[in-house]
Amino acid sequence: MKNIDSYTHLRGESVYLDDIPLINGTLYAAVFDSPVAHGKIISLETRDAMKMPGVVSIFTVKDIPGENQIGGIVPDEELLVGEHVHFCGMPIALLVAETEEMARLAIKKISVEIEPLPVITDPRIAKEKGELIIPPRTFKIGDTTAAWAQCEYVFEGSTETNGQEHLYIETQGAYAVPQENGVIKIYSSTQGPTVVQRTAARVLNIPMHQIEVDTTRIGGGFGGKEDQATTWAVMCALATYHLKRPVKYSLQRMEDMRMTGKRHPYSSDFKIGLDKDLKILAYEATFYQNAGAAADLSPAVMERTLFHCTSSYFVPNVKATAYSCRTHLPPNTAFRGFGGPQGMFVIEAAIAKAAEALSIDAAVIQQKNLLHTGDEFPYGQKAVSEANECWNKAVELYDLEKLKKEIRDFNEANKFYKKGLALMPICFGISFTKTLMNQARSLVHVYTDGSVGISTGAVEMGQGVNTKILQVAATIFSIDPAKIKINTTNTYRIANTSPSAASATADLNGKATEIACNAILTRLKQVAADEFKTELSSVELKEEWVYINGEKTGWDWKKLVMATFVKRISLSEHAHYTPAHIHFDLTKEKGHPFAYHVYGTAIITVTIDCLRGIYEFDSVKVVHDFGNSMNMMIDIGQCEGGIVQGIGWMTMEEIVYDKEGNLRTNALSTYKVPDIYSVPKEIAIHFLETQKDNLAIFRSKAVGEPPLLYGLGAYFALRNAVKAFNPAAAIPFDAPMTPEKVLMSLYLQRLKDSSINSIKEVMEK
Ligand code: MOS
Repeated sequence: MKNIDSYTHLRGESVYLDDIPLINGTLYAAVFDSPVAHGKIISLETRDAMKMPGVVSIFTVKDIPGENQIGGIVPDEELLVGEHVHFCGMPIALLVAETEEMARLAIKKISVEIEPLPVITDPRIAKEKGELIIPPRTFKIGDTTAAWAQCEYVFEGSTETNGQEHLYIETQGAYAVPQENGVIKIYSSTQGPTVVQRTAARVLNIPMHQIEVDTTRIGGGFGGKEDQATTWAVMCALATYHLKRPVKYSLQRMEDMRMTGKRHPYSSDFKIGLDKDLKILAYEATFYQNAGAAADLSPAVMERTLFHCTSSYFVPNVKATAYSCRTHLPPNTAFRGFGGPQGMFVIEAAIAKAAEALSIDAAVIQQKNLLHTGDEFPYGQKAVSEANECWNKAVELYDLEKLKKEIRDFNEANKFYKKGLALMPICFGISFTKTLMNQARSLVHVYTDGSVGISTGAVEMGQGVNTKILQVAATIFSIDPAKIKINTTNTYRIANTSPSAASATADLNGKATEIACNAILTRLKQVAADEFKTELSSVELKEEWVYINGEKTGWDWKKLVMATFVKRISLSEHAHYTPAHIHFDLTKEKGHPFAYHVYGTAIITVTIDCLRGIYEFDSVKVVHDFGNSMNMMIDIGQCEGGIVQGIGWMTMEEIVYDKEGNLRTNALSTYKVPDIYSVPKEIAIHFLETQKDNLAIFRSKAVGEPPLLYGLGAYFALRNAVKAFNPAAAIPFDAPMTPEKVLMSLYLQRLKDSSINSIKEVMEK
């Protein structure tokens, strides 16, 4: 089935925040943010700004009626600066004016005097100074200390992975509208309507029932709107609270890039030990997460780094420790993969280091250590593994040996172009790692004309979750999908929702919808059973007709619905779903946190231009474990998008903060994201269909985050291509591998060790 939004998307009719018709009297907000990363506010001057045309009001910390606190996991994040600024871009004042232009002009007239304090941007320095968001955590299995002695080979090293800008096409934004009796309705571009509701209530000191949050859809989230949409929604609500007028704030791209957090950069150390058969016996890793200035979701992100530290490999002896380090950058936040990719990069780097030192193909080590069913993860859960199935299928289907030969031949024939290849097996756990968040609700109404309206906690962000939820209802009722409407996500209809995140949205909300539809279906069937004087079990609904013992009756869906209504039987259901069997004991760091895992293998090939350092990805060939996909088109879309986003993170997207904590890559002119020309020439996706039971909706496994992990292979393919040109290069494990870094790696040792002294000289030869 096609994505139900495709028609309005194509015609430009889909409604995002900026498409909501405005109410007469709407005001526009703009935020004055800190130009300094760390310091104490000495004075704030707003009088000149107040005199600017159209300015209605300027709010500061003094105007907050409740708590000046938006921190979800740890209460360490102010909405508006109290005394100290903690990052460049931290909101200091909220200005409201008659037009957007007036607001942005006036904001420039605000000035602030800040006594600067020392700025930390490096997580390792933060850790040394004891600046930790939460105490460190360690995941352990076996005994690494004892295992080193049994290892034939031991390698150590360090890695860096940089952050990533979410670059949702729709920037952050919100529109708050006053209702009667002090209620504020907030249209928010958020992944988490309940987070917005809860935080607005806290800041305004009013009950949650006074805040209605409504989200039709959002123009991309990628994690960036799981927590950080809240700031702007609460800003608008604060102004509406005081002025009793509608207030809108839709961030400009540069405001968004400057003021919001990104994927967490990590600095990490590893030590890996292998036996003579190249089985990984022991693995130790230490992760320094750059959390930024406040906790935001960092503790949860850090936890997922630990969960995925061994990726899709079984390692009997593991010790992994993670530090969430407080620096003076904007608070970093959720980003597709949620810390998992950062953890997986490190073990892939360790394997690459071992392979390079032993002069073997990394794939040999990867393949020998893939998880098998029954293998235990360092956190205690036993794998139900498709790792070998995906790997073997990819090797066979895409003829790896032939691919390798083509690359060898190409590299022999070409002096200044080299190709590289890498395999990237993935394993990603599905569920919120915070067990309590794994719950969802669905409200299903069947109307008397047979049409159906559904509300859930799921936020449509382009991932197609609404289409999947619609499919659930259409399948259970066996009716035309055109009869079903998925409503906006609204906190008055569905309460206490978890954000749409962790790849789990379709599973959780789809299963709640399944339960609700089944409850209504049972009542409908009972009415038919009574009418046709038979057992409930004899009744079946097929393609909008009632069947009794396989025989078509004269009753269709509409007639059955009306008959049920006439009997005064409910045609509505509100259902609750939570996956059973998941648990985690934080005191032992053991449990069964994931409903299931998603597996896959990608083969990635790249060609580099050894004179310029530029490169093109030739192909990404994937075998992906979809379980039993309920919508292949949507799932392919998620895979392709995830792969390109992952490659972008590993290759061209380079966030640069200077030592003073200023974002130097604050626009799309300085921050390069993948465009259509940087998409691999070929992306092949093979569906590994498995018949095994799992906890996914209709056994169709979650697909949001896992494909991003294939992008890690891009880094290692590039590395292998560089090695084909310059085998001696000791390339640091430092992602992203930008063309500049590729170029430097190509000539790294050569420039020092050989007769070639400059790139110019190479070009002349
Ligand atoms: Mo997503 S990174 O779990 O919001």
